[in-house]
This record gives sequence, structure tokens and C-alpha cells, in this order.
Amino acid sequence: MPHQNYVIDEMISAKAIAARIEDLAREIRKEFKTTDKLVVVGLLRGSFVFIADLVRELDLPVEVDFLEASSYGDGMESSREVRILKDLRGQIEGRDVLVVEDIVDTGHTLAHVTKYLMSRKPARLKTIALLDKPARREVDLKASWTGFEIPDEFVVGYGIDFAQRNRNLPFIGKVRFEEPDKS
Ligand code: IMP
Repeated sequence: MPHQNYVIDEMISAKAIAARIEDLAREIRKEFKTTDKLVVVGLLRGSFVFIADLVRELDLPVEVDFLEASSYGDGMESSREVRILKDLRGQIEGRDVLVVEDIVDTGHTLAHVTKYLMSRKPARLKTIALLDKPARREVDLKASWTGFEIPDEFVVGYGIDFAQRNRNLPFIGKVRFEEPDKS
């Protein structure tokens, strides 16, 4: 994997992402302005670029932690059965928490992670996803904040991979498969 040739068409530019993150950060600052120290939890690995840009726009006291949940493996299909592969390092009981996700697709990952973290009794738990594919939803769920709603396309870049590739693209691009050359 990837077993076929594919090209990547730009869907959301780096500039558009940066502008949207400024708006989102303004809303998040308003929501958490009285919070002592916000715990920002990035879901590995797809959110690592987004969380880095987001926390630098927040201008709030924050702690950063990471959680890894299984999702796609190396393919393009959600596994639906979500497992926690790497847990938080810190405690969240009684704390305000913001979970940062790259994409909400079927919704299984964020639903599972939210339930898991709620069992640790945070004071407040909010969620943010850079991208949302509402057409693919299997679980009734919406992140507290969403960067962009996108159609049902497989995307890469800005931290998001296809079989561990393309995470380092500065923009969000759509994967388009090319017909094998029969000549
Ligand atoms: P869900 O559990 O189906 O909502 O899937 C969430 C996870 O699947 C995301 O955090 C991504 O890691 C992965 N994912 C969903 N859509 C895409 C995509 O278009 N490209 C790459 N990964 C994706």
C-alpha cells in the first residue's frame, strides 16, 4: 500500500487552513477564558500538525497530551472497532479538556474516545475536528467545533496520511487514483 498510482489535488490551501484556525482559536479562547489550565488532547497521529498550529494560536495556559486510538490501519476503510493504543500521560479528572481530531468520518473514533475520557470525570470536555465528512457518519455525533465540512473524498496532508504517506504536505489534498497504463 498504496498499491495504485495516485495524484493529489489541492482541496484546502495552507492559507485557508491558517485563517480558519485563527477563527477557531478565537472561539475556543472565549469558551475557556476562565479555565485555569486547559488540557489539549491530540489524537495521534493525524492531528499532530493541527494541534501544533492550534495551541500556538490559543494564548491560554495549556497542557498538551496525546492519545492514540486505532482506526484505519493502512487502508482506506474505518475499522469501526476502536481500541486505545496509547493512553494519556496526565490526569484529567476535574479538568477542562479539548480533544483535537483530524477528521470525523464515520464518527466511531471520536465517539469512543469521548466516552473513554468522560469516564475519567473531566469538568468539561469539548471536541474540535479540522475536517468533517458528514455524508459518511454512522454515529450521531458532531464535534463542538469543525474547521471545514468536506465531501466524501479520501484526503491527505496537514498531518493526515494515506498508508503513512503524505502527512507532510502543507495543504489538504484529495486523492485521485489513476487508471493503470495499459500501453
Ligand atoms: P472515523 O472513526 O471513521 O470517524 O475515522 C476517524 C479517523 O479515520 C480519522 O482520525 C483519520 O485518521 C481516519 N480518516 C478518515 N477519513 C480519512 C481520510 O480521508 N484520509 C485519511 N484518513 C482518514
